[in-house]
Order: sequence, then structure tokens, then C-alpha cells
Amino acid sequence: MASSKLHPDSAILIIGAGVFGLSTALWLARGGYKNVTVVDMQDTAASGYNPDTVDSASADINKIIRFSYGAEIDYQRLAMQAAAEWEDWNNQFAATTDASGLPADLRPDGAGLGERKLWRNCGMLRMSDGYQLSEVELRTLENMEKEGIREFQFRTDDPIDIDRAEKRQWGHKMDPCHRQERFGVHKAVLDSTAGFVVAYKSCSWAKYLAEKAGVKFILDPLRGKVIDISRSGDAVHEETPLVKTADGGGWTPSLLPEVSQLLETTAGSVVTIRVPQERQDLWERYSASNFPVITWRMDEGNGIYSFPRDEEGIVKIGYRKTKWTNYDDVNGLRISVPKTAHVTEKKETRIPITALEGIKGKLTHSWPEYIMTNLPDLAEFGLHSTKLCWYTDSIDNSFLVDYVPGRPGVAVCSGGSGHGFKFLPILGREVVKILEGQGESTPYGKLWGWRGADMTKGRNGLEEGEDGPRVLAKHRMASPQDWKI
Ligand SMILES: Cc1cc2nc3c(=O)[nH]c(=O)nc-3n(C[C@H](O)[C@H](O)[C@H](O)COP(=O)(O)OP(=O)(O)OC[C@H]3O[C@@H](n4cnc5c(N)ncnc54)[C@H](O)[C@@H]3O)c2cc1C
Ligand SMILES: *[C@@H]1O[C@H](CO)[C@@H](O)[C@H](O)[C@H]1NC(C)=O
Repeated sequence: MASSKLHPDSAILIIGAGVFGLSTALWLARGGYKNVTVVDMQDTAASGYNPDTVDSASADINKIIRFSYGAEIDYQRLAMQAAAEWEDWNNQFAATTDASGLPADLRPDGAGLGERKLWRNCGMLRMSDGYQLSEVELRTLENMEKEGIREFQFRTDDPIDIDRAEKRQWGHKMDPCHRQERFGVHKAVLDSTAGFVVAYKSCSWAKYLAEKAGVKFILDPLRGKVIDISRSGDAVHEETPLVKTADGGGWTPSLLPEVSQLLETTAGSVVTIRVPQERQDLWERYSASNFPVITWRMDEGNGIYSFPRDEEGIVKIGYRKTKWTNYDDVNGLRISVPKTAHVTEKKETRIPITALEGIKGKLTHSWPEYIMTNLPDLAEFGLHSTKLCWYTDSIDNSFLVDYVPGRPGVAVCSGGSGHGFKFLPILGREVVKILEGQGESTPYGKLWGWRGADMTKGRNGLEEGEDGPRVLAKHRMASPQDWKI
């Protein structure tokens, strides 16, 4: 269906109530579209997007909000715009007195745990492992200079920055792992504008706002599950929806096989450690007031990131180096599909031993990895849990938001590539422009448009396919006896 045919009464069906679907629905409804329905095969709202029962990239305890994007200034700018919205959402959320329309964990009566905040400006320390800042880091600082936000970045090797960090009360987050004292070197940049969001609460809040704006939700394992989008433009649940946004998260390639040239389902490896509250020293040390989000060796290809503890003492640590694939038959094609803890047929909660060892560190290694190197005081607790977190990566790590060639009325909005969450409050604003056919005249329409799968670039491994080294079945999986550190 030509996008020019979109009108306020168009029946718009959005598949998937994750970040991409929620944000799109919210901005469509705000833009005057009156018949917007979001379907999901999981009842994401019943548990308030609880990651213990809901499988999706969006249902998680926390996600990083960052502005550092190397040379990719369009993402840096969008992240800055999103940050203003997050601030707004924090204020609205803290001020709301609406007890009835909100899920239990967001109600003002305090039924939910912890602070009444969706986003927490705890800072993010971009830590390098060597004696130099990386090229990507230098590009980031250049682009921040250009946009007038360099003053909020503090280099650990720059006396002027160190002084400014002290004056603005960020000094205690400059070297929380005591690397200077322990290793004689600490090259890092603290971003005092970054932090994290409480992911599950933020999804619930976005759903609440969308519902208030008039969006309908069908969150149900049967009525909400789309099993086919036929080429005639008919979906199984709507007679002739004018636009169907296939927002499948990790599932998009299974639903729209033609996107498998551009999108690939992969798994990140995540572990948690639980800090017991009785250990008051560590409880304090790892609180968001005292500890920043940390990214480590992100540019050296061995990237690991960690969060401060949450209200239950959970410290989440993610492994970014290798993203795993899981190939299976989908309508005659071999496509990587999710293998999650709850909703998929073959369930999986383990992670490959390589990822686990990269995270915890192996004492027999000449160079211990993340936990032993940077958070050794947590080692005594061992790991609390492991999880595969399923992404949809695009060939170039940019999102994919466009009408699907050859499928009238069907648009895809996916490819979060591990960095989509921070845009929850604002992504839909750009998606609506694209759906309305203005994509070509916006920076994001150009960035996210349907593109050729330029295999010669092969930037993120999608081109390796099933022969590549990232296939989960080729790896030994870690079990709880490997959780000791
Ligand atoms: C380990 C990990 C760490 C990340 N860290 C960060 C971070 O720190 N900062 C950041 O900004 N971003 C981060 N991201 C990225 C971010 O989480 C994603 O970009 C974003 O959540 C993707 O949202 P989505 O709506 O596309 O997918 P999802 O959240 O996966 O939602 C897809 C939904 O579609 C539903 N669905 C699928 N198939 C069907 C069907 N056939 N019928 C009906 N419903 C269906 C699913 O049930 C699901 O609810 C991370 C991602 C991962 C995996
Ligand atoms: C919304 O669209 C559906 C599907 O076409 C249709 O059945 C329904 O009547 C529409 N609702 C409104 C309020 O227009």
C-alpha cells in the first residue's frame, strides 16, 4: 500500500510490544492515527515486562543510556534528544497520581520497589585496557566537542577534566575499579550525562502512555501471535491492514524471510551477580550513587559492560565480543532464530563457556578478564544467573525502518543491533515520518531505509552464515558448576 494512503482512520497493526513497537504506536497515536493496534504473542504487560517470564530484548532489568557513538553523529544527536524525553518521563512518572491505570510496579502507592525513576543519571565510564584511548573514543570526543557537550566528558588523563569532574562531584566515579593503583594505568572517559534505564518499568510506562493515547493492545499467546504476513497484504488477524509494522525483535527474520539479507538474529551473553544486602560495604560501593555503568575494551573487540547493582542487589554484566547464532529451518530457509528461556520450543538459559570465561576471568589465564580484573571484590559471590539475550542485528548495525519491497502495506521496524533501547521515547517520531513517506528527506529515513546487503563490507558477521564460528551448537555451554569465580 502506498504510504500516501495512510490516513487518520487507517487500520494499523503493529506486531510486537517491545521498544520498537511501543514507540511507533505511541507516536502514531499522538500523530492523530486513531486505529492503532499492537499485538504480541506474549502477555508482556501482565508481569510488567518482567524478564523472569517475558522473552524479549526489551524485557530486562536495565539498559545503558549513552551518547558516545564514535563518528556516528546522527545517533549521538538522537540519543541527546531521547535524553530530554527520558528526563520528561522521569518527571511525569514521579508526579503521576494515577493509581488505577498503571501496572503494580509503577503505582505511586509504592507497590513497586525502589526509586520512582525510570532513568538514572549515574554516569558511564568508558574504560580502555591499555595505555591509549582508542580511535573510536577520540572520534566520540570530537563529535561531542562539535555539539557543545564535551564539557560533560571527563578524561582520566587530563588534569583540566579531572579538576572539572571534582568540582561537579563526579570525582568518585573516575576510577571506581582502582585501576591506577592496581595496574599503574587508567585510561578512561567518564560521561556524566549517561546512565541507565530500568528497562521493564520503562516499557510498562510507554505502554501506559500509548494506551492513554488510544492504542489498543492484544497481548495473547494465540490472538496476539502473527504466524504469517501474506504477500497480498493480508495478515491473519486483520482483513486488510494498510500498514503492518513487522517488529519482531529477534524474531523479525523468521516472520519476513526477505529481511534475512539485512537482519540476523543473534544472542548476547549476560550474567548477574547478587550482592547480599548484609554486606553493607559492597552494597554501598555498588549502588548507582557510587558506581557508574562501565564499558570495558569496547573498541578493542573484547567488549564487556556492567551496571551498578539494582534494588535487589543484582549486578548485570554483558559480553559484547561475540554474538551467537542459532540456525534452524524456517519455511525452507536456514535462518538464525531465538532459543530463549521461556517462549521458544527449545529452551536455553546457558551461555557459551567462552563468554562466561571472558566475563568472570580464569585464574589460569595470563590476563584475567572482567570480574577478576575490575570487580574482584564480587568474585566471592560467584554468578547468580546466566542468560542469552536475543538481538536483531542489521548488517551495518543501523536500524531497519522502511516499507518492505514487494509487500504492499508492510513495513519493517527492527534491527535494534544492541543499541535501540535508549531511543524508546523518541524512536517512533522518526518512524512515523518514514511511514508517512517523508523518510527520504530525514537523516534517519536515509540511515534506516531498505538497503542492499553489501556483503563485501561484512561489518558485523552476518555474512558468515551457518559456516561461521558464532553458531551456538559449535560451543560448549556453561553450567552452574562453572559459576564459581
Ligand atoms: C543483551 C542485550 C543488551 C542490550 N543493551 C542495550 C543497552 O544497553 N542500551 C540500549 O539502548 N539498547 C540495548 N539493547 C538493544 C535493545 O534492547 C533493543 O534494540 C530493543 O529492545 C529492541 O526492541 P524490539 O521491539 O525490536 O524487540 P523485542 O523487545 O525483542 O520485542 C519484540 C516483541 O515481538 C514479539 N513477537 C515476535 N514475534 C511475534 C509474532 N510472530 N507475533 C506476535 N508477536 C511477536 C515478541 O514476543 C516480543 O515481545 C540490548 C539488547 C540486548 C539483547
Ligand atoms: C479499526 O480497523 C479494524 C480493521 O480494519 C476495523 O475492523 C475496525 O472497525 C476499525 N476501528 C475503528 C474504530 O475504526
